[in-house]
Amino acid sequence: MTTWDPEQYRQFAAERFRPGYELMARITGSPQSFIDLGCGTGELTVELCRRYPAASSVGLDSSLEMLQKGQKLSSHVNWIQGDLESWRADREYDLIFTNAALQWVPNHDALIPRLMSFVSSGGSFAMQVPANFEAKSHRLLYESAAELGISLKDRRASVLPADRYLDHLSARFEDVDVWYTEYVHILRGQDAVLEWVRGTALRPILTELAEAQLSQFLEMYRNKLRIAYPEQSNGTTRFPFRRLFAVGRGRKA
Ligand SMILES: C[S@@+](CC[C@H](N)C(=O)[O-])C[C@H]1O[C@@H](n2cnc3c(N)ncnc32)[C@H](O)[C@@H]1O
Repeated sequence: MTTWDPEQYRQFAAERFRPGYELMARITGSPQSFIDLGCGTGELTVELCRRYPAASSVGLDSSLEMLQKGQKLSSHVNWIQGDLESWRADREYDLIFTNAALQWVPNHDALIPRLMSFVSSGGSFAMQVPANFEAKSHRLLYESAAELGISLKDRRASVLPADRYLDHLSARFEDVDVWYTEYVHILRGQDAVLEWVRGTALRPILTELAEAQLSQFLEMYRNKLRIAYPEQSNGTTRFPFRRLFAVGRGRKA
């Protein structure tokens, strides 16, 4: 069994949750209440509690399994189950935080104004979503399906271009930042990009396709990925991944 000393663990967590930390770094003030939407297993929710110890805190996710892990991390947080497609808050929050979750929810032109309407006067809204939909890993996924005559629901559309988030946030907040960061991940192992995508863009497709069709599709996609993302001589694979961040501070009354 590997045992971690606290400093080693801090570094590991910082790497895994790097975009979440990048987002938190741009939040100002001391919120007295916050909600983490799509909180997953709750590590970032607990980090927000550490930064704002006086704040009341809520972690919301659609998955009970995720929330149960959060419950083990902290009993201070109010962990609640909810679906962001229809969720409406029953109160206002000084900070609405959401990291790597909204990409699963459609129609951001309606979603973002709805979520922002639950921020209190003077409060903040902070979001991060993957914006890698033009990357080769995505294009080749749809290209492989098309070549095999498989029709896939195109899930790339839910994340909007940066200027649309800027428009939405500027309508509600005094001070707005919208930016992209591209992380170049150094992946290890065979077919590392395919393995990465299995946990993200491929997830719904793995359950959508029948077994025979799926193995044909995976073979074609794997071969295309090997050419697009060649393994380096040291066995690693470089995988650039772009993320979009938007922060609004000082909600207009
Ligand atoms: C990639 S995880 C991110 C978890 C966490 N925010 C983090 O950064 O570590 C995405 C989370 O969004 C949740 N999620 C996806 N669709 C959702 C929805 N419609 N409503 C609420 N949560 C949702 C998933 O259950 C998952 O826990």
